[in-house]
Amino acid sequence: MSRYRIAVIPGDGIGVEVTAPTVDLLEHLADRAGFEIAFDHFDWSCARYQETGAMMPPDGLDQIRDHDAILLGAVGWPGVPDHVSLWGLLIPIRRRFQQYVNLRPISVMPGLPGPLRDPGEVDFVVVRENVEGEYSEIGGRFSTGTAQEMAVQEAVFTRAGVTRIVDYAFDLATTRRGHVTSATKSNGIVHTMPFWDEIVRERAERQPSVSWRQEHIDALAAKLVLDPSSFDVIVGSNLFGDILSDLAAAVAGSIGIAPSANLDPERDFPSMFEPVHGSAPDIAGKGIANPIGALWSASMMLDHLGEKRSGDALLAAIRATLADGDVRTPDLGGTATTRELAAAVQEAISL
Ligand code: NAD
Ligand code: IPM
Ligand code: MN
Repeated sequence: MSRYRIAVIPGDGIGVEVTAPTVDLLEHLADRAGFEIAFDHFDWSCARYQETGAMMPPDGLDQIRDHDAILLGAVGWPGVPDHVSLWGLLIPIRRRFQQYVNLRPISVMPGLPGPLRDPGEVDFVVVRENVEGEYSEIGGRFSTGTAQEMAVQEAVFTRAGVTRIVDYAFDLATTRRGHVTSATKSNGIVHTMPFWDEIVRERAERQPSVSWRQEHIDALAAKLVLDPSSFDVIVGSNLFGDILSDLAAAVAGSIGIAPSANLDPERDFPSMFEPVHGSAPDIAGKGIANPIGALWSASMMLDHLGEKRSGDALLAAIRATLADGDVRTPDLGGTATTRELAAAVQEAISL
């Protein structure tokens, strides 16, 4: 019997609220499908930071590097500066474990009300570069306290880093509808973005069956709202991919349903699965957060572990529950709680 060890980091706010039913549902699936799954819980969070001065212990990453995967809720809470909490936990995990692909699928679920009148068949995936680019520690504050005070933030794009994410996107497109859109801004950003475009052009030749185009991120954002069904695979830098994924989630109905997989495709390290959303301090503690983003992320984790039958069953149950429409959290226009929606998904599982 296959056995998996999962590191669970619920984190802060609704991260904790959506992770708990996700773990329960994974246990249920394991029972049904006949595999074993063991969870080690880590209380790394802003609460821990406020008690101890650190988001995680100094050897934290060593404690989880031999797990089969990491399940994360959300990180960040008022009172701890976001750059401190995120660079103290989430970003080091992505970087140290070489999770350079952040996969964020979007589909408009049948029956789910969204903000668009007629979105058409929306089914695309954002492939976000996840370890370099605009997220960098290089830079600083200068001339503090003078009229010339400034902050400088360097973006770092390496040939190896851009090549591997672009290759991942084109390879993925061969398994889908065969189209890549590259998000760029080479009309305004004169060093990194022309470099990005050049590598996309070169690497596109590896996959001649894939059609591709590049679009400026501003125009792309508009098109994502006006014509979302025209996208298949969108590849973007760390920051562009971040912004597009929240926009795309909103187009699909709610940021609460969007999943993500932070993948180390080489599998030297564990990959991490987490909803796209954050800790949502505005609704935390009420028990009404939408658990679908976390549950869908768990389905991606099952696929990654090789439990595709269970991953598919979970995704099918999510689709059926949303389509049915009886049980919806407030972000989707309903009155259900986190637990009620997760229970409805569990009930809809057929395996
Ligand atoms: P957010 O995603 O937490 O919230 C944005 C809005 O979406 C809020 O109105 C919130 O109520 C709503 N929302 C989010 N998830 C929802 C869900 N599951 N169900 C229903 N509604 C939901 O973004 P923010 O407010 O910018 O960030 C809050 C904190 O979370 C910050 O500290 C931020 O840095 C952090 N954050 C962490 C992650 C992560 O851990 N991966 C991601 C994004 C933001
Ligand atoms: C995400 C989040 C993070 C990111 C923040 C919290 C650092 O927005 O996972 O999308 O920008 O990567
Ligand atoms: Mn984000």
